[in-house]
Amino acid sequence: MPVPTFDPLSLAAPAALRGLAPYPFPMPGPIINFRGGVPDPVTFPLRDLADAAQRVLRDDPTALQYGYTSAYQRLSDYLISRYARDDGRTLNPDQISINAGAGQAIALACTAFVAPGDAVILEAPTFAWALRIWKMHDAHTTGIPVDGDGLQTDALETKLRQLRSEGRPIKLLYTVPSFHNPTGAVLSAGRRRRLLALAAEYGFLILEDNTYREFRFEGDLPPSLFAQDAGGRVVSIGTFSKIIAPGVRIGWAAGHPDVVRALAAVRGDLGASPWMAGVVADYASSGKLDAHIRDIVPLYHAKRDRIVASLSERCAPYLRWRTPPGGFFIWVTIADGIDPTKLAAAAELEGISYSAGHLYMADASARNTFRLSYSHLSLAEIDRGIAALGRALARCAP
Ligand SMILES: Cc1ncc(COP(=O)(O)O)c(C=O)c1O
Repeated sequence: MPVPTFDPLSLAAPAALRGLAPYPFPMPGPIINFRGGVPDPVTFPLRDLADAAQRVLRDDPTALQYGYTSAYQRLSDYLISRYARDDGRTLNPDQISINAGAGQAIALACTAFVAPGDAVILEAPTFAWALRIWKMHDAHTTGIPVDGDGLQTDALETKLRQLRSEGRPIKLLYTVPSFHNPTGAVLSAGRRRRLLALAAEYGFLILEDNTYREFRFEGDLPPSLFAQDAGGRVVSIGTFSKIIAPGVRIGWAAGHPDVVRALAAVRGDLGASPWMAGVVADYASSGKLDAHIRDIVPLYHAKRDRIVASLSERCAPYLRWRTPPGGFFIWVTIADGIDPTKLAAAAELEGISYSAGHLYMADASARNTFRLSYSHLSLAEIDRGIAALGRALARCAP
């Protein structure tokens, strides 16, 4: 008798069928790739991590066990000391959640707090992977425009009023206020205060994603939202992905104990790797992480300077951009008259790729924008890649 064919996708949940790209993404082939918020692998502290890994195995083999290990405890202690130093906050261990990167914290917050149809407010543009998470959970996503001072809080207030009048529960606002992905903007001090006031008035949580906070090239960073949060409305999300390496897959969330408990309650895994938590805690609490950050930031600063200089030299007639004061990205707007689809094809023929702007928008608008990531490229690759972009633009210009 013939075996009936089996189509596993007939069993899949709707979210799995919505054409969302699975992880891990395929990276483009032998081209200069301006996609991805990827740290430069030359920065990975290989020897120090190897030493730390050996020390953890020798001194604390419980780090290889399930559960709340002493490795988690050491990492929590380190993070508590970091929050005291950077944000002037005194935290207890029950205010820290250790996760597989910042990405997991966003996903846990979504599962814990957002029901289908609930309003989630995002920046427009916003971090594309986070957008994917809100959409998978059928959140009602609303993008608020970002300018050189970050999220436009006037526009936010108008939107909040509208959502309230529609009777839609406003659960959460997700923001990357310091060296925003994808624009590089910093949310101004005044707007930070206003945002906190609006969160109190409208009763929503703020998810403050600080992934790029350490990558400051110039100017001062205003105090974080978490530093100014009197009401327990801010969840501070951080990660070691960019300041150590993404492969450690260790990040954290800090907030009100009830929020941290809610994140723990919806976990579908059995914890982030305690061994890697121990390795990171050993490395970071020795003081080496701070020295490492001081060493690597100038490298990214030089890349930012190079891409801005290259863009000015090769692409100025065709593109507009703001020089980001930190972070990994430049967000560009294409001049009128150049077709973004034709430009992407021409760029690929020239041997480069970048991320189309609509991927960062809740409503898939902003087709005349794109994001260039310079973090993982060498200075020579940046020069060659932007020269290729200039050629592609010249070909597509009217
Ligand atoms: C704003 C932002 N948040 C979170 C992440 C994911 O970080 P992690 O590797 O810690 O999951 C990224 C990665 O690009 C990011 O750009």
